[in-house]
Amino acid sequence: MLENPPAWLPGDDRLRRFLGDSALYPFYRLKLTGYVSSLLPPGPCSILDVGAGDGSLGLVFQTFRPGTTVFGIEVALRAATRQGVRMVRFDGRSIPFLDGSFDVSLVSNVLHHASDPAALLREVRRVTRKRIIVKDHLSAGRLDDLKLAALDVLGNLRLGAQVAAVYLTRQRWDELFASLPGVRVSTFEHLPFRRGLLELFFSSSLEVIFALDIDRRGTAPTA
Ligand SMILES: C[S@@+](CC[C@H](N)C(=O)[O-])C[C@H]1O[C@@H](n2cnc3c(N)ncnc32)[C@H](O)[C@@H]1O
Repeated sequence: MLENPPAWLPGDDRLRRFLGDSALYPFYRLKLTGYVSSLLPPGPCSILDVGAGDGSLGLVFQTFRPGTTVFGIEVALRAATRQGVRMVRFDGRSIPFLDGSFDVSLVSNVLHHASDPAALLREVRRVTRKRIIVKDHLSAGRLDDLKLAALDVLGNLRLGAQVAAVYLTRQRWDELFASLPGVRVSTFEHLPFRRGLLELFFSSSLEVIFALDIDRRGTAPTA
């Protein structure tokens, strides 16, 4: 179970205005923002937003969460990147920061677009001190793949963002995390991301959030 969104997060109306027109389906963005907010560890926090898109998600934390700094990295910088977002371009494989540079890394709807998600995740692990928050999809087969591809086309094409994707099954996620040294995985499934007819067709079983807690006594990060 996820805790309720923290007190610092603005209410839905204000948050919707803050997120602006970056979202085709604002309800999804509001939910996503709330879920990720409740997974940020307590206290001051530096966040690496991997595949940050226009940077709006990280900007919420930087703006409203006390003591929070956010840095974004992207393979394709967008003209519509939000003002106030600090972001650099990278090659999608090597993260241009030293080991343990950030308390938290956020990887929201990115890994299914990465050509080598395991390699990217190892890099994210290397630069993260406390927790990696992964929001992504769960596919149970061909029909789910088609539904998720439709969602990616609807959500990403108009932004000029990447559409090509490989959606992982539960088993593939387990294998991916098992290959990562020194992390403890918590899985959050069946979280409402849509409502009404949309939820009926694109069920919440397609969405998943993982919190990967770095075991400080664990294996040293690989370079
Ligand atoms: C669906 S958007 C998600 C944007 C943002 N994280 C969010 O949740 O709003 C996926 C983003 O991942 C980026 N991307 C694709 N492959 C990537 C990779 N290998 N490494 C980092 N970002 C990647 C794309 O350029 C795109 O902006």
